[in-house]
Parts: sequence; C-alpha cells; structure tokens
Amino acid sequence: MNEGWKKYSEANRTAWNEAAPIHRKTRPVDLNEFFSKPGASLLDPVETGILKSFGLDGKTVAQLCCNNGRDLISIVNIGAKSGTGFDISDGFIEEARELAKTARADCEFVRTDILDIGHEYDNRFDIVYISIGALAWMPDLEVFFGIAARIMRPGGNLFIYEHHPMTYLIPFEESGFAPEGLVLKPEYSYFNKQTIEGRGLDYFGFTEYGASKNFEFQHTLGEIVNSVIGAGIELCELKEYPHDIANGFKWAEEMGKFPLSYTLTGRKK
Ligand SMILES: C[S@@+](CC[C@H](N)C(=O)[O-])C[C@H]1O[C@@H](n2cnc3c(N)ncnc32)[C@H](O)[C@@H]1O
Repeated sequence: MNEGWKKYSEANRTAWNEAAPIHRKTRPVDLNEFFSKPGASLLDPVETGILKSFGLDGKTVAQLCCNNGRDLISIVNIGAKSGTGFDISDGFIEEARELAKTARADCEFVRTDILDIGHEYDNRFDIVYISIGALAWMPDLEVFFGIAARIMRPGGNLFIYEHHPMTYLIPFEESGFAPEGLVLKPEYSYFNKQTIEGRGLDYFGFTEYGASKNFEFQHTLGEIVNSVIGAGIELCELKEYPHDIANGFKWAEEMGKFPLSYTLTGRKK
C-alpha cells in the first residue's frame, strides 16, 4: 500500500464521483444516442491514425483512467478485438458499462485505483492507451508506468495522447477566447512540484457545485519520457502539436505558438 498515493486517490475518487452525474447533463453529445450507431467513434484524426498504425485487428486494448469509456468503446468500434478500461470513479464506470451495452462493444470496465490493478491482468494487453487528462492524477509516474508495463504483452504498444505540460504555464479559458489585455505570465513554474488543489470538475458546462477538493500533479515532459523508459518501454516516437485537446486553450491554438498536446508511442521490450 502506498499511503501517500492513497490519500490523494480516495479524495479524487469522491471528486470524480460528484462530477459523473453533472457531466451526464452538461456534455455536448448524447453518448447513448451516439453509440447506438454501429462503428461510432469520438476519436480525433491524430489518435485514430496512431491507433490504426498499430494494426487494431485482433488486438486487446487497456485504457488507464478510462472515465466513461467513450474512447475505449470508440477503439473497439474502429477495429480492436476487445477493451478493458480501468478507472477509480464508481459513477463513470457505471456509465461506461451502460454505454458499452448500447454500443454492443466487447468492453469490460473495472472500478479500481490504478495502483490496485491486480496481477490477473499481467502481460495481457497488446495496446495500453492513456489519454487526455489522465497523467495529472498520478502522484508517482514511476509507479504508474511500472503498472502500465506490467499489464502489456512483450512487444505490446504504449500510446499516450495528452495535454502538453507547457499548458500549466498559460491560462485555461472556459470561453476559449484570449483573456482581455492578455500579458503572458506563467501560472505555475514548469518545474512546480507542489500538489495542485482544485474544486469542481465540470469541464463541459463549468457548473459551480459544492465540489470536494481534488488533487493534481504536474509532470515535465522529461519526467514522463524517463518514467516510460524506466518501466522497460522502448520509446518509438514523441510528437508535439499546437492544437488544444483540453478545451480551454483555443486562444493559444489560434496563436499557434505553443505546444498544447503531444503523442508518445513506445513498445514493451
Ligand atoms: C479527465 S479523465 C481522463 C480520461 C479520458 N481521457 C477522458 O477524457 O474522459 C480523468 C479520469 O481519471 C480517473 N482517475 C483519477 N485518479 C485515478 C486513479 N488513482 N486510478 C484510476 N483512475 C483515476 C478519474 O476518475 C477520471 O475518470
């Protein structure tokens, strides 16, 4: 048991459970209707291209921090054999199971802290996928990527599609527009190691509610890459992009001067 990690993950479980029913109301897409159509996918062209380059046919895919499973269900819908999603939130896992049923997708969803993923999943997955807004909840990347590597088959692919750590330096704007009279001054140091405390996780409707505290962790690109390598995963490609996947940096995307997202692929030796 990693007590430091647990203190934060149980608080974050409460915070994500509070957000689950709110997201159902505020997200712009009716997911039940969306996934009632065969082959429906919410993946963008960047992630679709990379996933297809692995060859999805016959592949088993795991997603760490899968939320309501919409990405994983999409991956199965575009050709993977089956998916297993892991997430700490009871509410989001319940929704993921409902959506998989609607989509008739071969997906299993496991409510668990990533830290507690059991050894029955060791060496099981051809692809381990981690996307948008997952790494920030992980207090210890060496532990996290150790678990990711453990559940991958030898020769399996790791795929990360995430916010660029650079986004900690610039203001997140709900409106998508640049703040009036914007003079850029870093929100946090790129090297910040303080836990970031927040309240409220409705990044669709930005509803204010009596939210419990949540805890995020900032990691530099170097720390991410080195934790992947340290877990015995060979780095294949690291690519940075000027497009926003967080829905709060549209203004920066328009400027085209910042790295706002990145993809990292690797292979388990
Ligand atoms: C922003 S979502 C990212 C997932 C997905 N890409 C998305 O866009 O919905 C973050 C997810 O991480 C989960 N999470 C946070 N801490 C976790 C932990 N320790 N173990 C497993 N899941 C965790 C939350 O419940 C939440 O569903």
